[in-house]
Amino acid sequence: MTNLPKTYRVKSFGCQMNVYDGDRMAELLSAQGMAPALGEDADLVVLNTCHIREKAADRAYSDIGRLRREDGSRPMVALAGCVAQAEGAEAKTRSKMIDLVVGPQAYHRLPEMLAAAARGERPVDTDMPAISKFDALPARRRSGPSAFLTVQEGCDKFCTYCVVPYTRGAEISRPFADIVGEAQALANGGAREITLLGQNVNAYEGGLDKLIRAVARIDGIERIRYTTSHPADMSDALIAAHGEIGKLMPYLHLPVQSGSDRILKAMNRSHSADTYLKTLEKVRAARPDIAISGDFIVGFPGESDEDFTATLAIVDAVGYASAYSFKYSARPGTPAATMEGAVAPEVMDDRLQRLQARLAEHSLAFNRATVGKDITILIDRKGRLPGQMIGKSPWFQSVFVETRAGIGDMIDVTVAKALPNSLGATAKVKVPA
Ligand code: 5AD
Ligand code: SF4
Repeated sequence: MTNLPKTYRVKSFGCQMNVYDGDRMAELLSAQGMAPALGEDADLVVLNTCHIREKAADRAYSDIGRLRREDGSRPMVALAGCVAQAEGAEAKTRSKMIDLVVGPQAYHRLPEMLAAAARGERPVDTDMPAISKFDALPARRRSGPSAFLTVQEGCDKFCTYCVVPYTRGAEISRPFADIVGEAQALANGGAREITLLGQNVNAYEGGLDKLIRAVARIDGIERIRYTTSHPADMSDALIAAHGEIGKLMPYLHLPVQSGSDRILKAMNRSHSADTYLKTLEKVRAARPDIAISGDFIVGFPGESDEDFTATLAIVDAVGYASAYSFKYSARPGTPAATMEGAVAPEVMDDRLQRLQARLAEHSLAFNRATVGKDITILIDRKGRLPGQMIGKSPWFQSVFVETRAGIGDMIDVTVAKALPNSLGATAKVKVPA
């Protein structure tokens, strides 16, 4: 390969932090004079991968295979994200189609790496440099109505099942002023909602509550969210912020993973079912209408029927508005991968099904309780039906509404109908034709 690519496509998998990284890589490539490819045929494809579960990691390689074109040619392929970080140079032996490998802390170096790749070298950069990539990336310019903003990266918690401390490194918080500056730039670029991101966002060193207050002072920013949080870092100040800051939306993603203290201990979670519930009690005292969301793992090594029953019990005790649930996936290099007591696949399947059925009941109940309410939604996309738009409620539900309002508008609606994963609503004020 000898030519520098002229067009690019960035494909992100996994968490919102990857979506954020994907956006910033795209901005960097555009600043280099490259254009986003319309349709499939890009000169460069950046696969921004996820390593969290085996299935997600395997996707990276099956996707690479599909990039070969009908005439036998192929785009330049950059492997980015957490699979790149975890596998480094090894990735190049797994797939001959990979032209460069770049980790989540090194992608500001993409321009030099692309030049090297064009010379036929296959550069690998999985450094976690002391000078942060954020200082080297172009400033934010345009934004959709709802923007992500990474404020903290990495994790020092070492849950025994999790690769994040290895793929994303130690916990690092970005400087307060840099984040506020980026939030202002996003507001200038059209953002009305900002979601502050971190693998452990509520462990933000400058105090997440203070950061939320500072972002709330920015004109144009109407809504603030944050994700993802660890129960051990729900400080009293952050909890109080939920009752005090109007722009902070009533939604909290607080993963618990399991309801069994025995399993929580084996997971090295540093909280029990009871301390988790106590934390939520305080959160609900500060903000009674808050929607709680969670993550669950079924089939962690040694999980018995009794342990699983405890998970169902905590689901009932919390009444989650929404949740993500996964079958345990052994990840190489993590402590849990060598634990005894593997749970049989069919038992995992059965538990996941039962858990998801229970979670669905609770989200439907939560959604039903909003029927009849007058709420404001932020429109973020078009619906499939003519005249239909989709927005987000304060509680992060998707709301379908017929309206002439456009993407980025905030409109008042009345909730008319609850479905398991969305709401139907009618617009209160008809926008004149
Ligand atoms: N297996 C299954 N699920 C996992 N998660 C993290 N690591 C694993 C794993 N090894 C889940 C957790 C976490 C979410 C992002 O992914 O529930 O909160
Ligand atoms: Fe996946 Fe974790 Fe990497 Fe996000 S940080 S992309 S969830 S492995």
